[in-house]
Amino acid sequence: MSIATLHGHPAPSSHRRAGGASPPAPPARDRVRALRPAPTEPGACPSAPPHGSDAVLPPVVSAGLTVPTVGGAFVDYANLDHAASTPALVVVRQAVDAALQTYSSVHRGKGYASQVTSRWYEQAREEVGRFVGARAEDEVVFTRNTTDSLNLLARSLPRDTTVYVFESEHHAALLPWNARRTVRLPVPGSARDAVLLLRSALASSRGRNRLVVLSGASNVTGELWPVAELAAVARDGGARVVLDAAQLAPHRRVDLDALGVDYVALSGHKLYAPFGAGALVGRSDWLDAAAPYLAGGGATRAVTERATHWQTGPARHEAGSPNVIGAVALAAACAALAAHREAVEAHEQALEASLSAGLAAIDGVETYSIFGPGHERLPVAVFTVEGVDPSLLSAVLSAEHGIGVRDGRFCAHLLVDALLDDPYAAEPGAAVRVSLGLGTTPEHVVRLLAAVASVASSGPEWEYELGGNGWEPVADPRDLAAARPW
Ligand SMILES: Cc1ncc(COP(=O)(O)O)c(C=O)c1O
Repeated sequence: MSIATLHGHPAPSSHRRAGGASPPAPPARDRVRALRPAPTEPGACPSAPPHGSDAVLPPVVSAGLTVPTVGGAFVDYANLDHAASTPALVVVRQAVDAALQTYSSVHRGKGYASQVTSRWYEQAREEVGRFVGARAEDEVVFTRNTTDSLNLLARSLPRDTTVYVFESEHHAALLPWNARRTVRLPVPGSARDAVLLLRSALASSRGRNRLVVLSGASNVTGELWPVAELAAVARDGGARVVLDAAQLAPHRRVDLDALGVDYVALSGHKLYAPFGAGALVGRSDWLDAAAPYLAGGGATRAVTERATHWQTGPARHEAGSPNVIGAVALAAACAALAAHREAVEAHEQALEASLSAGLAAIDGVETYSIFGPGHERLPVAVFTVEGVDPSLLSAVLSAEHGIGVRDGRFCAHLLVDALLDDPYAAEPGAAVRVSLGLGTTPEHVVRLLAAVASVASSGPEWEYELGGNGWEPVADPRDLAAARPW
């Protein structure tokens, strides 16, 4: 196996790594206890951090899910697609259950449950802010996801803002900006290269308002970007920084202040809280000066026949009834991840080490890297197997082994083109990505490696045909029409 760097040269093998008058009133939380369902497990309070020690991993609700294979067996589902979406944490489901019990109108409702719900919504905002190290003057706007957060920021930029973005970004971070005022930087070949590219781009252009878009970790390779270093370069160049933390936040601590960034965007569904909420956290001045992202109720202070007076603060951009349940879910996930940070990192580092070493040992497997061998990465790998279409490989992993991965171009076409770099290819290149997390066990990785090795050496065991959705098992015996959950 070899590692292809950006320029397609296999790395030397020595560097291989895939790399109340009476008694005092009880605290507010206790006073609403009567409204909550009896918790089935510890940690059911929507606004309370989960119980448990840092040494213990927070469990996911999908643990123990079995899926059919074409061979007729049922196997423990190996979800190796965390970079796309993560399973919910058990504490997230508990928080959602508890919040549903009192769920009612938010903000303007005078009923007791409405007031509790409104309070939880605002507490969720504080929890998310804490999770990313928000400063006192930062605001937390609830959105739908990272794409929504970055589009909100794009619409809030002062008109003359120049945006600097690497072509390696996920399309959600590459595309929302005014194309005429965007400077695209090429995919860097190393971390040092990234710093030089940004410094030179900032030095060779002028502008009163500038914004540098960075991602914390690549959604394709899982490699960590040198965010603090790049943010310092941006600051020297008079630019603000927005951090796309969609991939980083589920795995590593993100701290706005420590990293020196101005905004951070993230998605709940990638953070073990798949209930439709995300967030944009950061400086309020541009957001308060911008037109509301959505016009409607909740975003206004007063409406007269002649004028509309808009709110400032998060409400300005959160018109319409808010996704309280999503916000509670996101907050519960943030609290759990913060409380179990060391255990999460230790678990994932061990998984990453066996994944990268295992892939490196398989003949015919090529893994890809932006920054070069040995660069720090999340438990993610992107690879191809010589002579095997990535779509076929992912179909085989699912059908024969009960393993879920992703193949394709990962909404980062320019990066995938740069990584695969095959000028003679008839079609745009594609690869397979495996991405691990709290739903992954060591056995899942062992099974993946054995399956990839088997396909690499002997091909699939079942017969497959190419259809509209890529490769599919011929006469697939699995019952894919599972009963509806509603
Ligand atoms: C790095 C990165 N940024 C942004 C996004 C977009 O996230 P969402 O689809 O939750 O808006 C993704 C999704 O994969 C991503 O990986």
